[in-house]
Amino acid sequence: MAIQRLFPTRVYQAQARPAAWRALNARLLRECRQLRADDLVGRRWSARNYPGGYTSYSSAHRMHRLSPTFAALARVLDRHVDRFARALELDLRGRELAMTDCWVNIMGRGAVHGLHLHPLSAISGTYYVLVAPGAPGIKFEDPRLERFMAAPPRRRRTRLENRLWATLRARPGKLVLFESWLRHEVAANPLAAERISISFNYSWF
Ligand code: NI
Repeated sequence: MAIQRLFPTRVYQAQARPAAWRALNARLLRECRQLRADDLVGRRWSARNYPGGYTSYSSAHRMHRLSPTFAALARVLDRHVDRFARALELDLRGRELAMTDCWVNIMGRGAVHGLHLHPLSAISGTYYVLVAPGAPGIKFEDPRLERFMAAPPRRRRTRLENRLWATLRARPGKLVLFESWLRHEVAANPLAAERISISFNYSWF
């Protein structure tokens, strides 16, 4: 008897060593907060669409082109995205994956990032700048969920790969990559401490 695992959903994680991320994150943190202070359009958009939080998704979403600090982060991310693309065995001959968008998310107490995917992109992900212990992770949904219909539920305690939803911890200096069609969300931040992350999209050209 043999059971094959077909059609797996791959999520890439990497955690930088503190020596590598502390200085970068200190610079990113200053710039994320400065951006929020300067970005009136983004603050207004966030007040309507992201209660309790600030995001530059609608207003300053090419931070890698505007800031040398974000550009430095993008160069690190490029290498990880290449590695992920190789693991996924994407055929990119004559084409390349390039970052198209890169924006800031600051979740205050009660801020929620509802279930979504990243349309018009190939690879998406998040890099964590500031995450206090107890802040929510990123929760992924099984992409086959709507096909399960009358399938029995899973046991309460299953291996991660057999869950219908899987939450990966967020930590400063950590990077998560996934294919852009994979739906995900972030639960409400229960802490007074802000949870700050940088999200990004790569497309193929
Ligand atoms: Ni997202």
